[in-house]
Amino acid sequence: MSIARGGLSVGECDGQGARLLHVRLGGQPRLKAALAQRWQTGGREKESKAAGGHMEDGNIASPDMIVTVQQHIAQQQEALYPGAKGTFSWLLSGITLATKMIQAQIRRAGLLGIAGSAGASNVQGETQQKLDVYANEALLHCLGVRDAVAVLVSEENEEPVTFDRAPETGKYVVIFDPLDGSSNIDVNVSVGTIFSIFLRPEKTSDVPNAAALQLGSKQVAAGYVVYGPSTMFVYTAGNGVFGFTLDPNIGAFVLSHDKMRMPAQGQYYSVNEANAEGFPAKYQTYLSQLRSGGLGHEYSSRYIGSLVADFHRTLLKGGVFLYPPTVTHPGGKLRLLYEANPLAFLAEQAGGMATDGRGRILDIQPEGIHQRTSLVIGSRVEMEAFGRIE
Ligand code: F6P
Repeated sequence: MSIARGGLSVGECDGQGARLLHVRLGGQPRLKAALAQRWQTGGREKESKAAGGHMEDGNIASPDMIVTVQQHIAQQQEALYPGAKGTFSWLLSGITLATKMIQAQIRRAGLLGIAGSAGASNVQGETQQKLDVYANEALLHCLGVRDAVAVLVSEENEEPVTFDRAPETGKYVVIFDPLDGSSNIDVNVSVGTIFSIFLRPEKTSDVPNAAALQLGSKQVAAGYVVYGPSTMFVYTAGNGVFGFTLDPNIGAFVLSHDKMRMPAQGQYYSVNEANAEGFPAKYQTYLSQLRSGGLGHEYSSRYIGSLVADFHRTLLKGGVFLYPPTVTHPGGKLRLLYEANPLAFLAEQAGGMATDGRGRILDIQPEGIHQRTSLVIGSRVEMEAFGRIE
């Protein structure tokens, strides 16, 4: 994994600026051209100083060269769909804006008195936290004002929110879990937002909520934001996985993890072991295989209880996350549409795999918008080993 952010050092730009920028910014023609032109123009000293650069030995240091999430999405869309009108980029900017609003509240939760329960239950029968309510409203608002949105499906709303928009403009269905793992906020532990985006089907169907009940393999984009020690936005639009870290000084998500790949094998498995007695035999056999060195080394365990945070670690470090069927949730606990599907899309795009224990998550035909599933997701070696157990 390469770290894409970082200033060019003194001397790197001197004389050879355009060539070096070409090397560093390989896939980003517009940005590359703009920067190359900038370094070839006169008045470098003035420009660099104004932007916070400094001089040394007569050479000019550049300000940091950054790629924001907006630039990146626009460039990806242009590369994949020449002539794209920017609608999709504008749609995603609704998500980045809302998640910046959410992270601002989370950062101050202990100070504002907004941690804790809102005193109600959501559609899942779970206690709604005050920040669940805020996060949901922020996403509904920031996405709802974008013409490209036809349908919004939230974990916090029993029914989809639909917008009366012509099919030519309202092209997208966005499904999200506004604040995943929110009970962890009270104890200052990482939480997240997860989203999944589909094209609105061309033909209308008699099935209620049909626009949202699409195979996960039809997602056009998916991602999450993890609110941890730093806030990170990770997304795929079907052309690899990219991670951006929120730079609080400039208020922008900046590319920090380019073309993310999940290691082929990891060190950790992640599961709520308190439920282990009720796991089907296949899962128990698998876990003892991991513990006993059956995959070449003995595994250690990590479980946060915030799906986004547990998945984020699995994406970066490899290994496997499991939420098997349990006594209380025989069909699995996690939600297919706004938890399993988007993370499965990201996992596959990063070289990993995801199953419900029987088949590929992305091939499950959903029947309800709040449908639950079991989930096993992670690195190729661990997933193949799971698949070999009868
Ligand atoms: O689905 C909500 C969620 O909080 C996930 O973020 C997390 O992975 C899971 O539930 C934790 O469930 P449990 O407390 O049963 O381990």
